[in-house]
Amino acid sequence: RKQVTLPKLRDMYAKGDPITVITAHDFPSAHVADAAGMDVILVGDSLAMVALGMEDTSEVVVEEMLLHCRSVARATKAAFTIGDLPMGSYEISPGQALETAIRFVKEGRMKGIKLEGGKEMAPTIQRITEAGIPVLGHVGLTPQRQNSLGGFRVQGKTVASALRVLEDALAVQEAGCFAVVLEAVPPEVAAIITQKLSIPTIGIGAGNGCSGQVLVQVDMTGNFPPGRTIPKFVKKYGDVWGESFRAIEAYRDEVKSRQYPAQEHTYSMPVKELEGFVQ
Ligand code: KIV
Ligand code: NA
Repeated sequence: RKQVTLPKLRDMYAKGDPITVITAHDFPSAHVADAAGMDVILVGDSLAMVALGMEDTSEVVVEEMLLHCRSVARATKAAFTIGDLPMGSYEISPGQALETAIRFVKEGRMKGIKLEGGKEMAPTIQRITEAGIPVLGHVGLTPQRQNSLGGFRVQGKTVASALRVLEDALAVQEAGCFAVVLEAVPPEVAAIITQKLSIPTIGIGAGNGCSGQVLVQVDMTGNFPPGRTIPKFVKKYGDVWGESFRAIEAYRDEVKSRQYPAQEHTYSMPVKELEGFVQ
């Protein structure tokens, strides 16, 4: 498979070919996503919950993100890789954001970065893109701001709110984003925003009118830890947790019953050597 580049993504957008995006957080999850033909692999800060067991994304720090980015980069041969700037690593100034973005490229081996926010982040996005680092925007529901949003709430449900999401999307486009994630907005609003933009929209909980879709891998493969709340927009395409559970249970039972390991799982020793040894 040929490497997915920014021009390739632009070409897909121009042709109306949907852009497929999925998260990965380590070597195996990136390997399978790349092999399955994903266009973009995102090391989302959702790894705070799905890989590190944290309560929300506010706890994860740059060094932790970079460790995961490096492991994803090692497994990714074709997909375009994006690292998610964690809360606290980019909001203070465009300079702080650029420093963090550079670390994601140099230490995290990512091709681009994602950051949350609209109009207010425009100077920051401009600074990073001018340094030659592709930026994926993220508007609508921005989970890092859950406390000021009053939780994980759908955005753009009123005229005023929908206009704000549109303004934010236009602002990050103007600032240089190559694409923008639209999270948790009504499908009609997302479709109109998509029509008004000249960069791809990547929807999550934003309906079928976007230029592409993104999902958290452990959610859509059914590999989430029990107790994780799965948003309404997730479609569970697999039961990886159930498959692992059945395998581990079978292993436990076979160890207890001494069925495992069988002869074929062992190394043989020449009979003569064995006779000498048992003397
Ligand atoms: O952190 C994440 O996984 C994300 C995507 C779901 C867009 O931000
Ligand atoms: Na994120």
